[in-house]
Amino acid sequence: MTLAVHNIEVVYEDVMLVVKGASIRVPSEGIVALLGANGAGKTSLLRAMTGLLSVHRGRITRGHVSIDDQPVDTRRAPDVVRAGVSQVMEGRRVFVEFTVEENLRVGAYARTRAGLADKLDRIYGMFPILGQRRTQRAGYLSGGEQQMLAIGRALMAEPRYILLDEPSLGLAPQVVEQIRDLIVGIRDSGTGVLLVEQNAAMALSIADHGYVMENGKIVMDAPARALRDDDDIREFYLGAGTGGASLREVKHYRRRKRWLS
Ligand SMILES: Nc1ncnc2c1ncn2[C@@H]1O[C@H](COP(=O)(O)OP(=O)(O)OP(=O)(O)O)[C@@H](O)[C@H]1O
Ligand SMILES: [Mg+2]
Repeated sequence: MTLAVHNIEVVYEDVMLVVKGASIRVPSEGIVALLGANGAGKTSLLRAMTGLLSVHRGRITRGHVSIDDQPVDTRRAPDVVRAGVSQVMEGRRVFVEFTVEENLRVGAYARTRAGLADKLDRIYGMFPILGQRRTQRAGYLSGGEQQMLAIGRALMAEPRYILLDEPSLGLAPQVVEQIRDLIVGIRDSGTGVLLVEQNAAMALSIADHGYVMENGKIVMDAPARALRDDDDIREFYLGAGTGGASLREVKHYRRRKRWLS
């Protein structure tokens, strides 16, 4: 059981090529991390997978997406949700004027309205804070609670795969830990997770497999443990970074360093 992207190319406004033939695989029983610097093309790849490119004047010009080897038509976002793939967009988008529960209901409509009460109970079980705030406006929630609501809304469609775009961005370390535990819980409940993160330490601490994207291409593809132990990844993504340089430049620099010494 796998969600797979085959050699996808994404172009915006018919001219800007930003994803240049990327392939990734997300098994239904694991967490896959997608790492990469700003502008690498991570969000564009997710949009390509969930039918959201057209909203941004972009389109897939090559390649395709499949679930269990069956091609998925990614031209319309609701069809993708129906096929079992939900996305939590960058910047925890919730409807601030709606209550918590209204936000969750919106998530369920995409697939089916059957069993709505059971689905809400399940989400409130996973996120007790949302249950306590069910009648409050989403705009009054903290950043971490809004992120939980955005994730809860995606789960209302009961996806087989969930794509999370930088869920830890801008959150305090303690809240990041809560989000991390939730992602592990989602995986344990049998949903495959694609986790896009700038927080590589967090992502690699729970991921089974990882990809690194740079300038529209996948430049590394390895078990998360191997990435955690990789010197270049440690240097560039796990704290000891040189700041601003690309992974390739870091490698260059290291090679030059070796040559000089
Ligand atoms: N709607 C758009 N029209 C034109 N170019 C776009 C559009 N959206 C994104 N881009 C460009 O595509 C490239 C990849 O952007 P994308 O948002 O996919 O990267 P990212 O890896 O998600 O970055 P970040 O870490 O900043 O979220 C960037 O150069 C960006 O400026
Ligand atoms: Mg992004």
